[in-house]
Amino acid sequence: MNILAPSILSADFKNLASNIHEADAAGAQYIHIDVMDGIFVPSISFGMPVISSIRSATKRVFDVHLMIQDPERYIDAFVSCGADIITIHAEACRHLDRTLTYIRSKGAKAGLALCPATPLTVLDYLYDKIDMILLMTVNPGFGGQKYISEMTDKIARLRKQLNQRGLTTDIEVDGGINDATIRLALEAGANVCVAGSAVFGGDIAGNVEKYLKIMSEYEKE
Ligand code: DX5
Ligand code: ZN
Repeated sequence: MNILAPSILSADFKNLASNIHEADAAGAQYIHIDVMDGIFVPSISFGMPVISSIRSATKRVFDVHLMIQDPERYIDAFVSCGADIITIHAEACRHLDRTLTYIRSKGAKAGLALCPATPLTVLDYLYDKIDMILLMTVNPGFGGQKYISEMTDKIARLRKQLNQRGLTTDIEVDGGINDATIRLALEAGANVCVAGSAVFGGDIAGNVEKYLKIMSEYEKE
């Protein structure tokens, strides 16, 4: 199933709850939450208190993208504040097998994110432990960057590898998604699309409806 995940990194933080309500009411299935620590990525965004506070604003899935070094330190805390999916970065965690298994043991879905330069081979011994693979289509750290065109081939190669293994794991794409690039990503085999500035940078409900419509054109039965 194709899923839209608006990233609140580009929301208006003084009106965060109403921005989330608008995306929810227009049909966005996930709320994508970007946590940045100033170490793994240059910027700092927000953390547990903000997530706890907005948890009551929506019943939608909280898709928490941890751009933090050594994320294993905080899995319990993110589960407690309401994360449904916890995605860690392959480049930021020494013990991926252990940490992904731990996320699942806590009742959350386990996601693994790969930066643009990280090869797909890191997944080879982890496929069975991952609910969602996040392919970064920009270098993580900021909203509003340009989609890296080489990533379309990476998405296609990953979908092919999943198919060969008989897996239907979600592929999420994150960064630079707009009217044109969403089609490239969907065509290549992505099925969860993050959009930050493209949703929150204007008419939120209108943007959500537009992207849901595009995504429905690529729905596989
Ligand atoms: C970037 C974040 C993204 C960001 C996407 O490091 O992981 O989720 O919010 O923003 P846009 O869609 O504006 O590129
Ligand atoms: Zn993200």
